[in-house]
Amino acid sequence: MERERWATRIGLILAMAGNAIGLGNFLRFPVQAAENGGGAFMIPYIIAFLIIGIPLMWIEWAIGRYGGAQGHGTTPAIFYLLWRNRFAKVIGVFGLWIPLVVIIYYVYIESWTLGFAIKFLLNLVPEAPPEVEDPETYLKPFEEFLLSYKGSGEEFLVPSLYAYVIFLVTMAINVGILIRGVSRGIEAFAKVAMPTLFLLAIILVVRVFLLETPRGSAVEGLDFLWTPDFSKLTDPGVWIAASGQIFFTLSLGFGAIITYASYLRKDQDITLSGLTASTLNETAEVILGGSLAIPAAVAFFGVANAVAIAKEGAFDLGFISLPAIFVNMPAGNFLGFLWFFLLFFAGLTSSIALMQPLIAFFEDEFGLSRKHSVLMTAGIVFFSAHLVIFLSGSLDEMDFWAGTIGVVFFGLLEMVLFLWVFGGERAWEEINRGGIIRIPRFYYYIMRYVTPLFLTALLVTWAKEYIPKIVAETHWTVWVTRFFLIGLFLFLTLLVFIAEKRKVKEGVS
Ligand code: PFF
Repeated sequence: MERERWATRIGLILAMAGNAIGLGNFLRFPVQAAENGGGAFMIPYIIAFLIIGIPLMWIEWAIGRYGGAQGHGTTPAIFYLLWRNRFAKVIGVFGLWIPLVVIIYYVYIESWTLGFAIKFLLNLVPEAPPEVEDPETYLKPFEEFLLSYKGSGEEFLVPSLYAYVIFLVTMAINVGILIRGVSRGIEAFAKVAMPTLFLLAIILVVRVFLLETPRGSAVEGLDFLWTPDFSKLTDPGVWIAASGQIFFTLSLGFGAIITYASYLRKDQDITLSGLTASTLNETAEVILGGSLAIPAAVAFFGVANAVAIAKEGAFDLGFISLPAIFVNMPAGNFLGFLWFFLLFFAGLTSSIALMQPLIAFFEDEFGLSRKHSVLMTAGIVFFSAHLVIFLSGSLDEMDFWAGTIGVVFFGLLEMVLFLWVFGGERAWEEINRGGIIRIPRFYYYIMRYVTPLFLTALLVTWAKEYIPKIVAETHWTVWVTRFFLIGLFLFLTLLVFIAEKRKVKEGVS
């Protein structure tokens, strides 16, 4: 069966940018920046972009294009092409497991953005309280609004029926796009969604910049974010946070860029296109993402309060503080709608990317039709999502293992496999083949030495800090989630070996 291809270069770049630009840009980035002292965060962040983000982006594009040319879009099979050892297939399973685990919670949060967008459009939201001087009282109704939406509790969460229905709708929308395939589904949607997303973000940024209160202004928020603090460069925690954000925002180490890249043509440009997609993501992140939540919170609550508010986490900032600020403005509910609709589009172009690896796996390795592959994948995601919807703490646990530690670990594996096992010069040629620009040679050394060493150092620092905490964890919901995650990994490993048996039997390769 002929593999699908991207139809146009602009479509490919928008799809890749859509993959990368997501909730991470508008929710996770501002919170990471605020928690790590604003200006202190941006220097490690930019360095991580240059020495992890860009090289790994090129590597994932190259690995994907290489696999796609031989009919494979996921890492169990592609790693085996790079390294003829059965163990390569097992480590390749991480490239299915990570996107699957992440999509399980990502698509649920995405559904909240749709649920909130509709509520704001229909004016079914709390009104702005009068106590603007006291953030805690002021935010209270919005906090309760979020809690009654998603449910709260130490062990079990009981979301509203509305939240559950919207989750079903969100799944259906994802399926509706994916079932049309790569060029007619993903690519066609990205061509509409990405320009819309930029437009929405720009409108909101302009509105936030016009916001000024006796407590602060948006410009003070930018000051906070962009005044560098060099003294923080010795704090490993800031480096870990910055690097983690680079992985998450650029979708690196997830296997999803690899799958998208497997639909490139054999000699299609990687160097310039990969760089363009990364740059688009960074524009959406630091320019747009950095000009929304933090400046708005600083303008409305003042610097000191805004930082405290951001420390409550990404959900609170995006789902409580921002809407609470908007409703205080003229046409505030409509602004709230725009905000959540922006998040929904950002999330949607990313969730389809997270779903595609498993779909491609069923198509490539089991020879299933696209329709069956999509439905099977959606079924697995839907079933698993119930853990996140109803079990307290499950979401954070999944985000930690797959979206935080897992991606760094997997990114390191990719680099070692490609640049050391497959071969340094071979990999370098593979990346540059067909390239519109040629990558400066010093990046070869970055890819082969600097980045792997840096990632190893990150993992070691991390392990030292986290292993004691992980072992000491006693909450049963966390352990249930952990066993589920292990079960999911075993299940995927089993599928990989069933696929292999099946191919041997049918004599296909
Ligand atoms: N990069 C996305 C974000 O910033 O929200 C998250 C993501 C999407 C990661 C798709 C991985 C992926 F395949």
